[in-house]
Amino acid sequence: MQKITKAVFPVAGLGTRFLPATKASPKEMISIVDKPLIQYAVEEAIAAGIQEMIFITGRNKRAIEDHFDKAYEMEAELEARGKSETLEVLRSIVPKNISCIYIRQPEALGLGHAVLCARPVVGDQPFAVLLADDLIEGINPVMQQMTRLYEQQGCSILGVQNIKPEETIHYGIVKCEAKEKKLHSVTRIVEKPRPENAPSTLGVVGRYILTSKIFEHLEQTKSGAGGEIQLTDAIASLLQEEQVLAYEFTGTRYDCGTKLGYLMATIALGCKHPEVGKDFVDYLNARGYHEPSDH
Ligand code: G1P
Repeated sequence: MQKITKAVFPVAGLGTRFLPATKASPKEMISIVDKPLIQYAVEEAIAAGIQEMIFITGRNKRAIEDHFDKAYEMEAELEARGKSETLEVLRSIVPKNISCIYIRQPEALGLGHAVLCARPVVGDQPFAVLLADDLIEGINPVMQQMTRLYEQQGCSILGVQNIKPEETIHYGIVKCEAKEKKLHSVTRIVEKPRPENAPSTLGVVGRYILTSKIFEHLEQTKSGAGGEIQLTDAIASLLQEEQVLAYEFTGTRYDCGTKLGYLMATIALGCKHPEVGKDFVDYLNARGYHEPSDH
């Protein structure tokens, strides 16, 4: 069985839901407390033993490359001032054994097209896809849960969670046959169906492990929902040929592609932050708010 060593981060989206914040800076650089969304996703991939990070970028996304690059001037300045702790924060963003690769997606043609752009670098290996909008907190990082499962199952795996029936129009929705408690065999997948047409309420959130066969299906995929080339449609086609599993991961997911999800994540992570968490909890309690409970 091949190990998962590569992760794809589609980051070329326009982020229109977060305007004006995203007019000149990428939505993936929006920070929860003190760390940008994309760094949470990269750390999750690193925790899963992944070493090659492949970013599918577009116009206005240079800040992401700068974030994962060495910051010579800032490092020299901190060193001169003897700020070793801060220097360490800066240097640890990308551990030495990790490499970052950037591929430009010339047009935002959809998630499926973005993943297809990674083909020359991924080749014929299975790989992970992480959507940085979906920030998932778990005692065991979700991608780590999924790569472990892949080592047993050897097929494509989609991270899913139960969503509210009225929210099916925001997700890829799967129909499954029960296999094990949290692991199901996918029999159908539809992109953003209306609630009355949805085959279930199990929605795909932004974590995928895919076999390289997906590229052949992506090449044949025509534009679908929203006029975009959808990863979901290529997975629907892959299903005809290979087993695909849906995994109900353990963890709390925040949809940071929406303002509400972003605020919820800020409160949850703010309360746990090693530096300011305690003071923040005291602040919230004093105003009658209570620390969010873990699920
Ligand atoms: C994308 C996928 C969708 C998936 C969702 C998870 O949609 O197309 O299938 O359920 O991510 O966040 P988007 O949120 O980019 O519209």
